[in-house]
Amino acid sequence: IPVDPFDLVIFGGTGDLARRKILPALFRRFCAGQWPSDVQIVGAARRTLDDTGFRSLVSDALKEHAPKHARDRVAVEGFLSRLRYVPVEAEGPQGWEELAGLLGQNRVRAFYFSVAPRLFGPLAERIEAFGMATEKTRIVVEKPFGHDLDSARSLNATLAAHFDENQIYRIDHYLGKETVQNLMAVRFGNMLFEPLWNSQYVDHIQITVAETVGVDGRESYYDRAGAMRDMMQNHLMQLLCLIAMEPPAKFDPDAVRDEKLKVIRALDPVLPHHIVRGQFVAAEGLPGYREVVGNPRSTTESYVALRAHISNWRWAGTPFYLRTGKRLVARSSVINVMFKDAPHSIFGEDAGRHANVLSIRLQPNEGITLKVTIKEPGQGGMRLVDVPLDMSFAEALGPENQVSPDAYERLIMDVVRGNQTLFMRGDEVEAAWAWTDPIIAGWQSRGDVPKPYDCGSTGPGDAELLMKRDGRRWQGIKP
Ligand code: BG6
Repeated sequence: IPVDPFDLVIFGGTGDLARRKILPALFRRFCAGQWPSDVQIVGAARRTLDDTGFRSLVSDALKEHAPKHARDRVAVEGFLSRLRYVPVEAEGPQGWEELAGLLGQNRVRAFYFSVAPRLFGPLAERIEAFGMATEKTRIVVEKPFGHDLDSARSLNATLAAHFDENQIYRIDHYLGKETVQNLMAVRFGNMLFEPLWNSQYVDHIQITVAETVGVDGRESYYDRAGAMRDMMQNHLMQLLCLIAMEPPAKFDPDAVRDEKLKVIRALDPVLPHHIVRGQFVAAEGLPGYREVVGNPRSTTESYVALRAHISNWRWAGTPFYLRTGKRLVARSSVINVMFKDAPHSIFGEDAGRHANVLSIRLQPNEGITLKVTIKEPGQGGMRLVDVPLDMSFAEALGPENQVSPDAYERLIMDVVRGNQTLFMRGDEVEAAWAWTDPIIAGWQSRGDVPKPYDCGSTGPGDAELLMKRDGRRWQGIKP
């Protein structure tokens, strides 16, 4: 669907995120013909550059990060001609008059804060002071949104001093992933699942986000953050919300975010023996975490697994097991809804007992598998066996839908359209920190040291025990 004309200013326009994600995403949408002819993208950063210098930097970034589309020279030239660059001093006066002069009147203007959070305040102040804050102004901010509850509150207050909540777009790029949105379609577009979606029928739910990458290139950020802040507080929490929330009355921003917030607020504090932290150690030719971050005594976790409880009518009694880690055996994000056993086996215990599992694969190889029980073919007597009812989206939807748009493409276009459904509201972020903070504080006060696990493994053995103690086990991590 085409969008109205807009101006997008990227603060930190020469930075890593802009080159890797934001500009390639904009370029791909440009190639998809989604833009009117007079869109303007303005790079703004400290570096002294002119339009030509910025265009050449972006041209290189496109070759590297959108190689397929970048082969189309006409498209690249067309895209580059929409780019401008203004050197701007985030905490000083330089560049702001010029920036304000570039922006069109009476059209959407989005300011993307791809900068350190300490600059959010100075940037917001100057946008207002230089007359760039209109009703059609939108602010986009990236994670990490705070380091804990206090810092998140203070970032929210800083932004709120200049903009209304409906102008603030907090990105969690997991919400832009096609299959994550599909979670809502599967739950609320089918009659089949929702009646069973509660503690009466669901034994437990597993959410796994396993990565093969390490922390190279972002050692200093990561060593201060760890898996709990980097992944659990935001991406896994968002998945948990979408899987557990009540049906919103409408697919509209506040209706959806109200329901997600209720889930976070209903989470019980996590007990210390319901959490396992891990840190990868050298194996398979890969260096260990401490070596990579250059901190031989680091106690930062690169892996965390925990058991969470949602104390509400729907979920009381159904645990949610969440795990995420780096340098694991495969890249695989999947949600497994593990149903209870049938109450009684009419075939006798010898036939075997099987529970249904609904697996929602978020990446790679997006799709849904429902494990169902049937009769083992051919045998005399009645023996039961599990078979997967498997739907790979790429296969089912045909070649033209094989490539899902990148999360950033979707999210940036939603900013331009003014749709906040897939962005986190301020109170949601704060509630997620309020749940996370005591967990981290507990580790600090106990001097907790993460358990070692080998690069290329499935994580620390204690994470298996966490399940085993409850008579359960993790589904395998498969690519
Ligand atoms: C980022 C985290 O938010 O998400 C990274 O900071 C992580 O540590 C990344 O690797 C994972 O995103 P994706 O889209 O590759 O699953």
